[in-house]
Amino acid sequence: MLKLAVLVSGGGTNLQALIDSIDDGRVHNAEISLVVSNKKDAYALTRAKEHGIKSLCISPKDYESRKAFEAALLEVLKKEQVDLVVLAGYLVILPEGLIQVYRNRVINIHPSLIPSFCGAGYYGLKVHEAALARGVKVTGATVHFVDEGTDTGPIILQKAVEIQPNDTPEILQRRVMEQAEWKILPKAVDLIANGLISVENGRVVNKEK
Ligand code: GRF
Repeated sequence: MLKLAVLVSGGGTNLQALIDSIDDGRVHNAEISLVVSNKKDAYALTRAKEHGIKSLCISPKDYESRKAFEAALLEVLKKEQVDLVVLAGYLVILPEGLIQVYRNRVINIHPSLIPSFCGAGYYGLKVHEAALARGVKVTGATVHFVDEGTDTGPIILQKAVEIQPNDTPEILQRRVMEQAEWKILPKAVDLIANGLISVENGRVVNKEK
């Protein structure tokens, strides 16, 4: 059984998609051991509690240094014997030490087709604002492993979503979540939990295909 820690900062709809997919059997051989938020009022924490999942708030603001924050995060992950860390709308830059310890065992969901509209400054609604400003006709979402760069790690899954003529950033954000994020994040976890994903020469090989 793959033990997951889901790191969140906000509403937690991607967390909810994971919970539902595990409950209804679309994701096999995985369980959420822990939800960690950097914000104590994140609705994602309520979702976790409602499902009886252990949850806690660990904020960099409560530590005197990045190193101390990193040590606190690593300690809880180790205590719960976490195998895979899932960043689901997590707005904190992950400490480098944690990325090294969990090499190819941290994944992130990003609301665009990487390498478009990603990297420093592209988060939340800003991603969708940029896609609309550029006038692209197709956007989407990407699940990738996390490395030391911003949105630069090996790509696991992507799904395209069409842009409609009257889209606002908010409307587009919702469509990208419904049609792409809530599908490919659980799917990526299922593939990893069942040993179907490996990283070779910096690229993901999907053995399902
Ligand atoms: C999603 O759009 C995700 O791709 C981005 O932040 C949003 C999080 O939403 N990184 P939620 O907290 O899962 O509802």
